Amino acid sequence: MASLTVRQLDEALKKRLRLRAAKHGRSVEDEVRNILRSAAASADEFGAPAAPNETTRDAATREPAPRAAARRVLLIIGGGIAAYKSLDLIRRLRERGIAVRVVMTQAAQQFLTPLSAGALSGERVFTDLFDPASEFDVGHIRLAREADLIVVAPATANLMAKIAGGHAGDLASAVLLATGKKILLAPAMNPQMWSSKATRRNLAQLIADGVALVGPNAGEMAERNEAGIGRMAEPLEIVAAVEGLLTNTGGALAGLRVIITSGPTHEPIDPVRYIANRSSGKQGHAIAAAAASAGAEVTLIAGPVNVPDPVGVKMVKVETARDMLAAVEQALPADVGIFAAAVADWRTDHNSKEKIKKTGTGTPELTLVENPDILSIVAHLKTKRPRLVIGFAAETEKIIEHAKAKLARKGCDWILANDVSAESGVMGGDRNTVHLVSASGIESWPQQTKDEVAGELIKRIAAELKERAPKENSPKENSP
Ligand code: C5P
Repeated sequence: MASLTVRQLDEALKKRLRLRAAKHGRSVEDEVRNILRSAAASADEFGAPAAPNETTRDAATREPAPRAAARRVLLIIGGGIAAYKSLDLIRRLRERGIAVRVVMTQAAQQFLTPLSAGALSGERVFTDLFDPASEFDVGHIRLAREADLIVVAPATANLMAKIAGGHAGDLASAVLLATGKKILLAPAMNPQMWSSKATRRNLAQLIADGVALVGPNAGEMAERNEAGIGRMAEPLEIVAAVEGLLTNTGGALAGLRVIITSGPTHEPIDPVRYIANRSSGKQGHAIAAAAASAGAEVTLIAGPVNVPDPVGVKMVKVETARDMLAAVEQALPADVGIFAAAVADWRTDHNSKEKIKKTGTGTPELTLVENPDILSIVAHLKTKRPRLVIGFAAETEKIIEHAKAKLARKGCDWILANDVSAESGVMGGDRNTVHLVSASGIESWPQQTKDEVAGELIKRIAAELKERAPKENSPKENSP
């Protein structure tokens, strides 16, 4: 359909459309297209009933969140055994409509040929800073500028040292020095090299310079009998980080303070046992990373998790719900509070100092008491309440119904409801299907990676605060 003309809409509907379009930063025409697309996606045919648990209004406000638009990535392949995964990375990026131009270092060519990388990227591969043909044709400055994002995978210890030191003696480092674009590194090296003082120093410098990181992961090394932190992130993890950065919200949250809780809490029973849950922290951490890359000052308060600390956030690591509450109170005031942690609802009434022993005469009795509800406490604060308080509702049934009840009970502004039934694979998985429930309706987002959900949420937060700003800044009616 090339164009769209809708006549004879009543004024009230036109006004609602205009407001909605402004909120999402779209033209009215685009907004109407979105509504129609969503209606088509949510029903077998136009006019079919909305999904169960949704009102007509809910269905009308349902819309897909945008995916990363077709963009251009410059992939710099460094010389490490993990380079073999970079071929798969090229395929995965292209599958998502992202164009990939490849630069290979001399060392990378010990592991891969430019021919294979070129066959997969569908473009010539660049290898030499002093190649007169490519300098005349494209040149390192154009390579540096014509990408939306530069990805270095694998980022070897040597390449990281060169970037941190501002070297420009070969094509890869010259491009990295000449670019003003965001750089994403996927480090890969032996654990000893990763933990060496020199690499730590370089890493600190790179983080201070605003470079983004994905991985490295812990696990087995290519060398026999070696394990530890240093494995390059898997291609799909790198793709998720790329999509997150390409949908980046720029400085949308610049100057704002954001508090985020993430992960499970552990409630001790005795010195060796505790009550826990299956939360991985992936969604909360992804939101923290997205908020930080949107320019917010982020405090991430996390229970025990196995995911890496996001770059550029203030980390506060806690164990129990009560520690988490104390850390949140300490971190206030903030503009936005996002409560993504799966806080244990109960703890034992007393934490045994000694390990509880099997006596052979029966099982010990555990009496549970309720933990403080951090989200509800913060949402009901008289002073220091963040302007926007967002909770999560992890449900296994009647998702929307429970989320609506939770919104009212907790007193927060938005609830992101998600299905965490075993079949959904959300707990610990990389994808999430969420419904944004607020006083003004329900939006059901399509299934996305947790990074995409995070990016979309940050955009919504920025739009909401922008929309509220005139009202919040206008003088109160009764003020003198
Ligand atoms: O009541 P329920 O645990 O389902 O509520 C989930 C929401 O409340 C999440 O946002 C979670 O982070 C928050 N929560 C909390 N403190 C608790 C329990 C839940 O902040 N003790």
